[in-house]
Amino acid sequence: MSGGYLLHGGDYNPEQWLDMPEVLETDIVRFREAKINTVTLGVFSWAKLEPREGEYSFAWLEQIIDRLYENGIGVILATPSGARPHWLADRYPEVLRVNASRQRMVFGGRHNHCLTSPAYREKVRQIDTRLAERFGHHPAVQMWHISNEFSGDCHCPLCQEAFRGWLKKRYQTIEALNESWCTTFWSHTYDSFEQVESPSPIGERSIMGLELDWKRFVSDQTIDFMEQEIRALRSAGSDKPVTTNLMYRFLQVDYFKLAKKIDLVSWDNYPAWQRHTLEETAQRTAFWHDVMRSLKKAPFLMIESSPGATNWQGVSKLKRPGMLRATSFQSIAHGSDGAMYFQMRKSRGAEEKFHGAVLDHYDGNDTRTFGDVCETGEMLEKISAVTGAKTCAQAAVLYDWENIWAMEGSAGPRNEGLHYQESVEKSYRALRRLGLNVDILDQSSDLGGYRLISAPMQYLFHPGFAQKVRSYVAGGGTFVMSYWSGVVDESDRCFLGGTPHDLMDVFGLRSEEIDGLYDWEENEICQPGKTCAGLGESYSCKYLCQIVKPAAAKTLMVYGKDFYAGTPALLENQYGKGTAYYVCADAEQAFYEDLYRKLAGDIGLCCPAPGGLPEGVELTSRETADRIFYFAQNFSEKEAVLSLPKGEILYGKNSDVLKPLENLVLVVKK
Ligand code: GAL
Ligand code: ZN
Repeated sequence: MSGGYLLHGGDYNPEQWLDMPEVLETDIVRFREAKINTVTLGVFSWAKLEPREGEYSFAWLEQIIDRLYENGIGVILATPSGARPHWLADRYPEVLRVNASRQRMVFGGRHNHCLTSPAYREKVRQIDTRLAERFGHHPAVQMWHISNEFSGDCHCPLCQEAFRGWLKKRYQTIEALNESWCTTFWSHTYDSFEQVESPSPIGERSIMGLELDWKRFVSDQTIDFMEQEIRALRSAGSDKPVTTNLMYRFLQVDYFKLAKKIDLVSWDNYPAWQRHTLEETAQRTAFWHDVMRSLKKAPFLMIESSPGATNWQGVSKLKRPGMLRATSFQSIAHGSDGAMYFQMRKSRGAEEKFHGAVLDHYDGNDTRTFGDVCETGEMLEKISAVTGAKTCAQAAVLYDWENIWAMEGSAGPRNEGLHYQESVEKSYRALRRLGLNVDILDQSSDLGGYRLISAPMQYLFHPGFAQKVRSYVAGGGTFVMSYWSGVVDESDRCFLGGTPHDLMDVFGLRSEEIDGLYDWEENEICQPGKTCAGLGESYSCKYLCQIVKPAAAKTLMVYGKDFYAGTPALLENQYGKGTAYYVCADAEQAFYEDLYRKLAGDIGLCCPAPGGLPEGVELTSRETADRIFYFAQNFSEKEAVLSLPKGEILYGKNSDVLKPLENLVLVVKK
């Protein structure tokens, strides 16, 4: 995404207004006023593009693309596979999904087609090919948007067959499958691949290896579907970059795997501002921006966000003044090369007529939201020098899809909630409070180049992961792992001979038992006599408490209560040139903040803001060959006083005081 400017625009649905050309005329005028430079077209246009099977009608789209181009507006062109026309479902009922209870759906909704169906794949291939032939070289078209928010699974006979094929490839023999899935349990042994069925509430739910492989299959099948769409565009001669819009906390598709198949990561960002404190929402959103950037370790694109309220959250909260700019700014700060919206204009009817938009049913340019969009457009122009700048991080947090699938599916120490996401966010937040850029990695990522890695709850170890951690620590890295780690292999089979598997010497301990706490219970992690500087005397902990047997590790803190009071709760072990820490329980936020401040200090990772960050202030940076851009934002409810590195102000006021929701960009020459 070069060209030196940040994208500003969003999803535009002119197909809903073809009988009112004056509306489309107004749109262009307003887009120009708001410094809109890019729109996404065609996401849900299939019925207008192919009203009857094989009868394509592209002239209207061409006219719109041409007009946008004449007005200096570029296009991200979607393939329409996110929702299908009626005729397609009527003619090829196999495209309709079957749910886990084996019921076939009827026509309606979107994102609900069988991704295996040869008929669906063929119809999609045909229309994608024609779109690429017609528009693949249009100068306005900058990028392809493949489908929309890939999600869901289908349990139809075609998918069952494909699943069996996938399993045969993975295991070769049914004996190997039985062994990996431990099917002797309850006599569920398979005699042949033909007997295998996807997990179902009316069937098999007790074999975790099956559950895990089904999730892998669904993810792979989704990616495969996307790849066949990309192939159609490429075979039709278009070499424009491709993206697909990813989602917040969406775990059905392994985004680390998917990202390898696209040119640019993009995602849809809909924070529920004001549901929690500003700071909490900002941190959660920041985490997902960082996931998206880390998937390809490259700038990404926030391709959807709401200019106003959404209409699908429990409460449709208006964006208060400054919030739209802050949301857009935050995405750029974390590595987005643009700020885009859903939607450019509100539909007249149906489900999304009340969803926030740049233009609403009243056409004027004197709405509050339109004013906010104009301000954002101006801001993006002022900071366009950051386009393409990279984010360099020395700290990382591990977040692995397969680990999450396994942990959540496995009947274990707390079926009322493992609070995994929360524990990841606590570590992330602690590192971010230090003003450090943080990458998010999965177990397949390269750990080299990071100084400090936090790995909360790595229950499942991918083959080779333990060896990676060992080399990382031996080579001088600081690695913090927490309870419930290294427990099972990639088939959810327990490791024999002690855990954390293959790393007991690296951490200098063996995990022995794990205690699940009721929601209302608490224990504490403490250091009577405060022997370890930088850490407090005591912190509360909840949910899960791992009891360990130390070997070489040094105990820094112990449990304060219950029958395991006095046994280790935080341990440190020197291994090779590095240090491995083991956190035994789910401690309160303050614990992680103190721990990571101490560890960062020990290895000389410093906050770029001398004196540290006030509560609620986010600091990130992006770099080019010769410049570092610092982004500061105040997500607290009060003014924050901040001392920043010396540099030139690119955006914002030249002052040490940041008001709530105020944003600042500072440039420092390298
Ligand atoms: C996204 C979706 C858009 C629109 C939007 C509303 O998830 O991709 O098409 O529905 O939500 O917030
Ligand atoms: Zn299916």
